Amino acid sequence: MKYALTWAAVSASFAWAAKVDISQISRGPATNVVPNRYVVEIDPAVVGISSITGKRSVTPPAGLYEAMHKRDITWQTTQEYEGDLWNGAAVQLSSDEDLIKLSEINGVVSIHPIMLHPAPKPVYQHVLSGPDDTNIPADTQSTHKMCGVDKLHAEGKFGAGVKIGIIDSGFDYKHPSLGGCFGPGCKFASGYDFVGDAYSGTNTPVPDNDPMDCGGHGTHVAGIIGANPGNQYNISGVAYKSELAGYRVFGCEGSVSDDILIAAIQRAYNEGCDVITMSIGGPAGWTSSPSAVVSSRAAKNGRIVTIAAGNEGDAGMWYASGPASGIDVIAVGSVDNSVIPVQYAKVSGHADIAYFSLAPLKFTESLPVYALSKTMVPNDACDPLPDDTPDLSPYVVLIRRGACPFLDKLKNVAAKGARVGLIYNNGGSPNSFTPDGIPGALIGTEDGAYLLNQFLAGTPPTISFPQDGPAGQVDNPTAGLMSTFSTYGPTFDSYMKPSLAAPGGGIVSTYPQALGSFAIESGTSMATPFVAGVAALLLEAKGKSKDVARAARDFMQTTAGAIPQSRNDSALLQTAAVQGAGLVNAYNMVHYQTVVSPGQLLLNDTANFKGKHTIKVKNGSNKKQTYTLTHKPAGTAQSLQPGSIQQNVFPVPLTADVASVNIPHTITVNAGQTKSFDVRFTAPNVDSKAIPVYSGYIEIAAQNGEVLAVTYLGTASKLKEATILDNTDYFFGEKLPTTLDADGNVTTTEQTYTFVGNNSAPTILFRLVMGTRALVFDLVSENTTVPGTIARRDLESEQFEKRGFWGSLWDWVKEWLNGRGNQNGGTYSQIPVVGGLASYEYSPRHSETPEPDVGYSTFILANNTFANNTRIPNGRYKILLRALKITGDLTNESDYEAWLSPPMVFNATNA
Ligand SMILES: *[C@@H]1O[C@H](CO)[C@@H](O)[C@H](O)[C@H]1NC(C)=O
Ligand SMILES: *[C@@H]1O[C@H](CO)[C@@H](O)[C@H](O)[C@H]1NC(C)=O
Ligand SMILES: *[C@@H]1O[C@H](CO)[C@@H](O)[C@H](O)[C@H]1NC(C)=O
Ligand SMILES: *[C@@H]1O[C@H](CO)[C@@H](O)[C@H](O)[C@H]1NC(C)=O
Ligand SMILES: *[C@@H]1O[C@H](CO)[C@@H](O)[C@H](O)[C@H]1NC(C)=O
Ligand SMILES: *[C@@H]1O[C@H](CO)[C@@H](O)[C@H](O)[C@H]1NC(C)=O
Ligand SMILES: *[C@@H]1O[C@H](CO)[C@@H](O)[C@H](O)[C@H]1NC(C)=O
Ligand SMILES: *[C@@H]1O[C@H](CO)[C@@H](O)[C@H](O)[C@H]1NC(C)=O
Repeated sequence: MKYALTWAAVSASFAWAAKVDISQISRGPATNVVPNRYVVEIDPAVVGISSITGKRSVTPPAGLYEAMHKRDITWQTTQEYEGDLWNGAAVQLSSDEDLIKLSEINGVVSIHPIMLHPAPKPVYQHVLSGPDDTNIPADTQSTHKMCGVDKLHAEGKFGAGVKIGIIDSGFDYKHPSLGGCFGPGCKFASGYDFVGDAYSGTNTPVPDNDPMDCGGHGTHVAGIIGANPGNQYNISGVAYKSELAGYRVFGCEGSVSDDILIAAIQRAYNEGCDVITMSIGGPAGWTSSPSAVVSSRAAKNGRIVTIAAGNEGDAGMWYASGPASGIDVIAVGSVDNSVIPVQYAKVSGHADIAYFSLAPLKFTESLPVYALSKTMVPNDACDPLPDDTPDLSPYVVLIRRGACPFLDKLKNVAAKGARVGLIYNNGGSPNSFTPDGIPGALIGTEDGAYLLNQFLAGTPPTISFPQDGPAGQVDNPTAGLMSTFSTYGPTFDSYMKPSLAAPGGGIVSTYPQALGSFAIESGTSMATPFVAGVAALLLEAKGKSKDVARAARDFMQTTAGAIPQSRNDSALLQTAAVQGAGLVNAYNMVHYQTVVSPGQLLLNDTANFKGKHTIKVKNGSNKKQTYTLTHKPAGTAQSLQPGSIQQNVFPVPLTADVASVNIPHTITVNAGQTKSFDVRFTAPNVDSKAIPVYSGYIEIAAQNGEVLAVTYLGTASKLKEATILDNTDYFFGEKLPTTLDADGNVTTTEQTYTFVGNNSAPTILFRLVMGTRALVFDLVSENTTVPGTIARRDLESEQFEKRGFWGSLWDWVKEWLNGRGNQNGGTYSQIPVVGGLASYEYSPRHSETPEPDVGYSTFILANNTFANNTRIPNGRYKILLRALKITGDLTNESDYEAWLSPPMVFNATNA
């Protein structure tokens, strides 16, 4: 094969079998970016200011439009922004030339392509049929008890006087438990529909004043905050006396684009919401997406902002979701509820065994059990079964959990005739799931072992599934542990996400009346409104003020409870990369007399190590107290598989190598006084290649029994050394990156592209095993060989500093789009770069889900034009792919990883 060697050192071939068949690749443009639409931020001190008077002559957006007119830019405005959080507009441009002209307007701070956020999907869902529905957990208030909310309710605290803005799919405000009406005096006193029923994320939104729900998600979220007690399921919201403002941003189906999300956050802010909550997001990895930045600014300006941490726990570390990734927001992870609904199967010669399902399995025969594997293999039925497998149709097939999705296992046994399957647990969270082929469900580890042993002894029991109960609920063996779906951080810029956790599994709440009125759902979507409710209780108890709001995350984190990895007595504490500070405790948060800050200490990586921190302890009691300080380390999370650049998937293994911490044993603080102490960290001495993330808690125990803690998190490696581009054959059995031909096969011969028809276009298949701030595709001369070390580009350094939050990247992209990177003989000075093709900012990493833009991406040069729309002359070329290393300098060429395509011929008739 002809494709070029990667620039970065390639480790010897890996032994793992390919994860995905290369023929499954779908070739298509990125699905999560809306073409030609951008969110523009301007500096209001520059734009809209009269050059004659030096005073504001028009609003900042109007100033932007004037400047765009002067430059003959053709555009349509989709949203307008003015105020504390963001000034500027969202625009649709007609060409990339206009994009360049826009970037040259004085006072334009940043321009971002508009990203789509998918509608939040609950991890599982069941609509309740009535009060006798067997799926209702015994104690629907179990989540309140887990977090001390019941005790605050008993004190009469219900969030009265606090206004909570919910940004979601809409709200059935006619629901009797949600007040039954909309408008002043109602529970939903205000709100707005930004989009209309038919909105999909890419079509034109049709806003109106009525945020009624058609999806169901927002109504469920709203009930967790605000459901009135006295309903048939005896549930109530965490802060059901708070006032709700409902902002609808989803149509009945589809996604929401960033420009709408920003408008919704801005409106919630302008309308005086004390708490703003969003159970919305998708993989982001960085703190910098516009919606994350706007959310963070709202928090900085004194609103409490709670955002779902994400339901992608199976992807492993470094998968933080946006906009939860915003620096000052509270990102909320999910903890399993204390009880779970089950059904019971009848087993001959044995007591009934529970299986985790929201409804009886749709299977009415009584059949003997058949075990596929004689031992507890880790990856039972993950691959198609061998030819000598018997016909499985007369059995209930017993399969062990692990290594691949439940549905794959059931598919593989169904291929051999099975009609029903039971998967026995391997220690993971019990999960209900909805089979899409043959019926199947999860059973407990011990029940699985019993059935396996009986089968091996030649006495397989027969099993049947009663269709009308008995059903019930069992104590959840993973009660209070992190839900397996809860997303791991940290962000690539070393911020801790999630911030903390709350109950999000098996939650009963309101549902649109048209869809059944009440439902059970699971997800960080459910944990997030719980914390929004807790935030309202905090404001009610401590008084509504910007100071309390800004300190809310500290209050919640320092009084939360760290969670172990498992119920085993010798289990390590779970990594803070997935639990943050742990399970929120509303009662302690409100009542502790001791106030500790900050709530989290960010130690960064070893190259940017911040090892010294100061913790403040305020003794709010009326007695002098001595506090005992203790280091409680969490397990160190091994991000990568041993000897590999590939991420570990759930559960990320933990080791007992921990940081050492230098703290005083005790401090004594007089009544009403505040005292500080220093903490000095030394990162654990571990093999940095696995990108280990260490974390833990500095516990502060008062004489009066209060126990608080500050969470810390750091990375025991240099992130700059982390490999970004997958250069292995792990995923497809073909070494990446690679070029694909018109059939989607890896190219083996030199390709000639005419740019006519569907497939005559260069296509590069690649994966990112870590995220990158800048992913760049350039066209280079066919004679280019391995990229060397390249000199810094000739740009004044001040250009990279003068701008705002991520302005330097924008400057860089602008220069690159203009082809100005070529002044010195190329973007890479020793490589003749012919011109830029495409660039992407702040990319998350890929996961192991075999979906385009989730598990891998293809870059297709559909037209023979440079990124600035200039035609590419016919000729012989290569494509250079570069990815900036984490913490790398945009202007330092040696901070990029690079890959060169094989030579190719462009032969277009329009050239
Ligand atoms: C391309 O792939 C298809 C299957 O995806 C295969 O049938 C075909 O033989 C391949 N073509 C070549 C030239 O390898
Ligand atoms: C209903 O909820 C209240 C608290 O809101 C609790 O005290 C009571 O025990 C619950 N009743 C049942 C039947 O669950
Ligand atoms: C960690 O260091 C990098 C490089 O200086 C910086 O960009 C990033 O913001 C730092 N992260 C934190 C949490 O301080
Ligand atoms: C608990 O953990 C210890 C140490 O990791 C292990 O040896 C033991 O088997 C575990 N026990 C259970 C019940 O998982
Ligand atoms: C590449 O090298 C060949 C042989 O040395 C030469 O003929 C050709 O002009 C070169 N191409 C470019 C684009 O420099
Ligand atoms: C577009 O980019 C190409 C290649 O970098 C460059 O040669 C050309 O001058 C640029 N065109 C404009 C209008 O900036
Ligand atoms: C490619 O060109 C066609 C026709 O000129 C145009 O419709 C299409 O939008 C272009 N595609 C891209 C990705 O620029
Ligand atoms: C380019 O295409 C033309 C037909 O459009 C063909 O005659 C010519 O041979 C091609 N050149 C190359 C180098 O493939």
